[in-house]
Amino acid sequence: MHLRQAIILLGLLTVQALAQLATYESFLQVASDWPPGPGAVLVPQQPDDELTAMMAQVDPARIQAIITKLVSFGTRATMSNQTDPLRGIGAARDWIASEMRTFAATSGGRMTVSVPNYVQTPSGSITRNTVISNIVATLKGSTDPNRIYVVSGHYDSRVSSDTNFVDDAPGADDDASGVAVSMELARVMATHTPAATIMFAAVAGEEQGLFGSAFMASGLKNMSADVQGMLNNDIVGSSTADDGTTDPFNIRMFAQGIPSTENLAKITSRVDIGAENDSPIRQLGRFVVEVASNAVTQMNVQMVYRPDRFLRGGDHLSFIDQGYPAVRFTEPHENFAHQHQDVRVVNGVQFGDLVQFCDFEFNARVARVNGVALWSLAQAPGTPKGLTLDTSVLTNNSTLRWTRDPAAAGYEVVWRASEDAFWTHVVPVGKVSSATVLLSKDNAQFGVRAVGANGFKSPAAFPFAE
Ligand SMILES: *[C@@H]1O[C@H](CO)[C@@H](O)[C@H](O)[C@H]1NC(C)=O
Ligand SMILES: *[C@@H]1O[C@H](CO)[C@@H](O)[C@H](O)[C@H]1NC(C)=O
Ligand SMILES: *[C@@H]1O[C@H](CO)[C@@H](O)[C@H](O)[C@H]1NC(C)=O
Ligand SMILES: *[C@@H]1O[C@H](CO)[C@@H](O)[C@H](O)[C@H]1NC(C)=O
Ligand SMILES: [Zn+2]
Repeated sequence: MHLRQAIILLGLLTVQALAQLATYESFLQVASDWPPGPGAVLVPQQPDDELTAMMAQVDPARIQAIITKLVSFGTRATMSNQTDPLRGIGAARDWIASEMRTFAATSGGRMTVSVPNYVQTPSGSITRNTVISNIVATLKGSTDPNRIYVVSGHYDSRVSSDTNFVDDAPGADDDASGVAVSMELARVMATHTPAATIMFAAVAGEEQGLFGSAFMASGLKNMSADVQGMLNNDIVGSSTADDGTTDPFNIRMFAQGIPSTENLAKITSRVDIGAENDSPIRQLGRFVVEVASNAVTQMNVQMVYRPDRFLRGGDHLSFIDQGYPAVRFTEPHENFAHQHQDVRVVNGVQFGDLVQFCDFEFNARVARVNGVALWSLAQAPGTPKGLTLDTSVLTNNSTLRWTRDPAAAGYEVVWRASEDAFWTHVVPVGKVSSATVLLSKDNAQFGVRAVGANGFKSPAAFPFAE
């Protein structure tokens, strides 16, 4: 098999070389043998100095303190007491909000804290009118405040029966661990200035039907908010499997394929062009794997191609239901004796979601994965919009067009063989709104990402047929 080369034309003028594909075992058909290209294998973007320093401040001891405090409220069941200052979900709500306000106080006015709420009428295991309150700390973007990224965990907890709001429901891993991610990132990022807006959320009513996140996501949708990524952290506090083995450097990220909001016509056009694996959710997932599997996080992000684990769901689904790209982080090996269980000992085995089963160092690394992803998203230009692929004529080359964002310093075409999981190659194309790649769209998947003057790169957009 001879070496394969590809070239790119920028508009109709500039010729740039693409990768020399010596190790590339696939069936890419190229339209030209000239010129032989320099390497353009995609090298993952790395955190800059500011982000690296910020992530060094993520503190396992603070995560431990947050989880221990949340467990101390006894139960955080959604229908538990909302006015008692010591026990129940109301005390947890007020404590989270007051902590978030102390972080906001360091932000020079950029971070604000709100506790939006509504009354949920009886539904499923909610048996009487119940106030559902979220806590949201919003760090306003300096140059692109209308573009939003969300990180969230749920602060409600449960025991074996979802209608039992009396007994102790410590919820250390499920999901004080996820709330700790939102809170610790709010603390370290409050003193920094992202370009786009970041919302650090703790939501309620997850265990009864994703009520808090549905309220948040539908509220954002009703405001026409441009949410370009949501990261849900739910059960991210333990690295130990039920057989006692540990897996402390891997985190699962569930990333759905076709979004639930797509109608049959859209799904049909997606299938027609082989884009089942190229939804905005998968592009967000690829972005997170690229930016957050490195020495700064000391984690390997494992993308799983499904919405969630079997029989389970989570708050990311509320955002997907509003058309927003969202993924879920969950520890790699769950111990089901520690989730949704009455605290008890059976035959010498301790059941219950207790602090003693948490690994705060692991939880801190998961927070860094989220932090690197969020900050990289918020510092980059937005994901390109209006991207199309010209399919008007039979040709071996591929023309992409998109809407140019004045905030982008340039663009890159990324591509991979259609059967590859991740973008493998990148071609800088400059500050343009179209590019023609002499590489057949029949064989490769193409994306376009925006590059900021600061070097941060957006997730890729995927083109539909023009
Ligand atoms: C909640 O706790 C407060 C203070 O202890 C108590 O007065 C109130 O009756 C409780 N509410 C419910 C619904 O149990
Ligand atoms: C958003 O609008 C929909 C449709 O009007 C409505 O059902 C929903 O309650 C609204 N959500 C919020 C949070 O206001
Ligand atoms: C496309 O490439 C194939 C194989 O390299 C070639 O036979 C064909 O003539 C090309 N078509 C056009 C329109 O250039
Ligand atoms: C793309 O391919 C077509 C037909 O194969 C050719 O006529 C056209 O000049 C090519 N465009 C570029 C920019 O090379
Ligand atoms: Zn949960």
